[in-house]
Amino acid sequence: MSKLYSDKTIFMKIGISNIILSILIFTAESSPPQDPIRCSNKTFNCTVINTYGSFPDRTICRAAEVVYPSTEAELVSIVANAALLNRKMKVATSTSHSIPKLACPDGENGLLISTKNLDQTINVAKSSMTMTVGSGMTLRELISKAAEVGLALPYAPYWWGLTVGGMLGTGAHGSSLWGLGSAVHDYVVQLRIVTPAGPEEGYAKVRILESDNPELNAAKVSLGVLGVISQVTLKLQPMFKRSITFMEKNDSSLGDQASSFGYQHEFADVSWHPSQKKVIYRVDDRVATNALGNGLNDFTGFRSTPSLVVAAVRSTEEIQESTNDANGICLNAATTIFTLKATAYGYTNDGIIFKGYPIVGYQNRLQASGSCLNGIQDALITACPWDPRVKGLFFHQTTFSIGFSKVKGFIEDVQNLVNLVPKALCGIDIYNGILMRYVKASSAHLGKQEDGIDFDITYYRSKDPNKPRLYEDILEEIEQIAMFKYGGLPHWGKNRNVAFLGAIKKYRNVTEFMKVKENYDPNGLFSSEWTDQVLGLKNGITIDKDGCALEGLCICSQDNHCAPRLGYFCRPGKIYKDARVCTLSAKR
Ligand SMILES: Cc1cc2nc3c(=O)[nH]c(=O)nc-3n(C[C@H](O)[C@H](O)[C@H](O)COP(=O)(O)OP(=O)(O)OC[C@H]3O[C@@H](n4cnc5c(N)ncnc54)[C@H](O)[C@@H]3O)c2cc1C
Ligand SMILES: *[C@@H]1O[C@H](CO)[C@@H](O)[C@H](O)[C@H]1NC(C)=O
Ligand SMILES: *[C@@H]1O[C@H](CO)[C@@H](O)[C@H](O)[C@H]1NC(C)=O
Ligand SMILES: *[C@@H]1O[C@H](CO)[C@@H](O)[C@H](O)[C@H]1NC(C)=O
Repeated sequence: MSKLYSDKTIFMKIGISNIILSILIFTAESSPPQDPIRCSNKTFNCTVINTYGSFPDRTICRAAEVVYPSTEAELVSIVANAALLNRKMKVATSTSHSIPKLACPDGENGLLISTKNLDQTINVAKSSMTMTVGSGMTLRELISKAAEVGLALPYAPYWWGLTVGGMLGTGAHGSSLWGLGSAVHDYVVQLRIVTPAGPEEGYAKVRILESDNPELNAAKVSLGVLGVISQVTLKLQPMFKRSITFMEKNDSSLGDQASSFGYQHEFADVSWHPSQKKVIYRVDDRVATNALGNGLNDFTGFRSTPSLVVAAVRSTEEIQESTNDANGICLNAATTIFTLKATAYGYTNDGIIFKGYPIVGYQNRLQASGSCLNGIQDALITACPWDPRVKGLFFHQTTFSIGFSKVKGFIEDVQNLVNLVPKALCGIDIYNGILMRYVKASSAHLGKQEDGIDFDITYYRSKDPNKPRLYEDILEEIEQIAMFKYGGLPHWGKNRNVAFLGAIKKYRNVTEFMKVKENYDPNGLFSSEWTDQVLGLKNGITIDKDGCALEGLCICSQDNHCAPRLGYFCRPGKIYKDARVCTLSAKR
C-alpha cells in the first residue's frame, strides 16, 4: 500500500479535496444549462441536442422548424396543420435531459413542438389534493407551486431540471416502495393529450384521459409517440416532513439487505461503492410536521461549479485514464467519497450549515435539488458540472431496474467481478458510485413490470469515441449482465444503445400500447427512427462500425468493434461467459 501514497498522489489527494471544497463554497455568477434548441434563421433551420451536448451516436439532430405554443388551443392548431401536411413532429422540452435520441424528429421537414411556454399552473384543488399543470412545467416549479398551497409531491426524481412531460415520457422516478411507488407517472389522475385526427375532426383533437380510462396506461409513459401532452393532473399529499440519516456499512451483506432495506424506510436508497466495498444507506422516513428542523438538500453534484475546477477534475481523470493509472483513480475516488461524506453530500440542517444527522425538514426542501440551474445565461464562470460549453464531466450512464427476485444475483456478480479485478470500479466512485433506488410495478404499459431496484451507474466517456476506458471490459460486462442475464429494464431516458436491445420484449402489455399508438397517431407522425427501433418496429438499435462497442453502439463480435491497435480485443466476459467485451489483452 505504501508505494501507492507517493508524494505525487498525496499532492493529488489534497488537490482534489480542495476542488470539492471550492465547489462547496463557491457561489459566484453561474450559468443555467444552454437552450437545447438552436436555429440559424429565427425559428427555422434548427438543431436539437440533449443537455450533455452529445447523443449516444454523437450525431447532431436537425429540424426544419420549432414552435412555442403557450395554450392548448395553439397546440391543437399546430398539430392540425402538421397532420394535414403529413409532417413529422417531436415534442421538445426546455431541459432535454434524456441521453438517447428521443428529441429527434425524422427527415428534412421535421417540426419541433417545444413545451417551454406550456408551463402554467392551471388549477389547484385543495380539497381533492390535486394540481393541474402545463406539461412543460419543471419539477422545480411543480414542487415550489405545490408547496405554496401546502401540498407536496411525495416521490420524484432527485434533480429539479426535468419537465412534467419529459418525466412522463421516460418514466422518471425517485426511490420508494410506499404508496404507488416512486414514479411520477403513477400519480397522474388526469391527462390531456393532443393527437392527430382525420379531416372530419379538423386534423387534431384533444383527448382527456381520466384514471379509469385504460388508455391512460399507454399515455402516462409514452416515449412521446402518442401526441403532445398538454396538461397533467397529479395527486398530491399534504406537506410533510422527513428525517434523513446516511449510514455507512461494508457491502458484505448488501445482496441480502438491499431488498428488505427498501421496505423499512419510505424514502430509502442506497449508494454503493463496490471497489471500496462500502455502502451508504439512506435512512429516510416521514416524521411529524412539528419535528424540529428546516433541512435543505443542495446536492453537491447538482451545484454550480467553477469552470476552472471542473476542467481540472476532468483533466486529472483524462490523464489517469490515458496512462492506465488505476491507483490514481482509486485514490481520487476515495477522496471524493470521503469529502462528500464529510460535507453531508450538500445537505444542511438549516439551509446554511451541516451540524449532524438527522437532517429534518420539509419535503419540498429535501426531495430534489439543482442550484446550478440558477444564474445568468452565458456567464460561464460557474455552471452545472456536465455543461458541454465548458470543459467538464463527460460520461456514459447505464441505468436499469432489476426485479427483487434477481437483485441478489446481480449484486453478487458485481462483487465477484470486483474480487477478480479489485480496482475495476473505482472510476464510478468519482460519480458517487452506483445509486440504487426502489421502484414499484406500474400500471403503465411501458412502466416497471415488477417491484425492484433501479441501478444507476455513471462512468467516464472519452471525448474520442475510438479510445477505450480503463477497465472497459468490466463495465461492458456489467451492462450485459444487467440487461441480458437478469433481464433488466433500461431507463428510457438514459443508457447506451445496447441496453435497448430486445428491451421492448420485456414488457407484457406492449400490444396494448401499440393499439393506442395506432389509434392516436396512425401515420406515426410523432414517431422517429429511434422510437421505432426501441419499440421493435425497425432494426438498427446497434450500429456496427470500428470501435462501436466502446461507445455502447454494439456488442462486439469482432476485434475491430473494440480497439485492436490499442490492445483491446473482443473476448468473453470474466464471469458471464455469454458476454462479449472489449478486453485489454495480448493478441491471440
Ligand atoms: C442531472 C440529471 C439528473 C437526473 N435525475 C433523474 C432521476 O433522479 N430520476 C430519473 O428517473 N431520471 C433522472 N434523469 C433522467 C431524466 O428523467 C430523463 O432523462 C427525463 O425524464 C428527461 O426529462 P426532460 O423533461 O428533459 O424531457 P426530454 O428528455 O426533453 O424528453 C423526453 C421524452 O419525453 C417526450 N415529451 C416531453 N414532453 C412531452 C409532452 N408534453 N408530450 C409528449 N411527449 C413529451 C419527448 O418527446 C421525449 O421523447 C436525470 C437526468 C439528468 C441529466
Ligand atoms: C428563413 O426561413 C424562412 C422560412 O423557411 C425563409 O422563407 C427565409 O427565406 C429564410 N431566410 C434566410 C435568410 O435563409
Ligand atoms: C442551416 O443552418 C446551418 C447551421 O446549423 C447552416 O450551415 C445552413 O447554412 C443553414 N441553412 C439555411 C438554408 O439557412
Ligand atoms: C462487515 O460488517 C459486519 C458488521 O456489520 C462485520 O460482521 C463483518 O465482519 C464486516 N466484513 C468485513 C469484510 O469487514
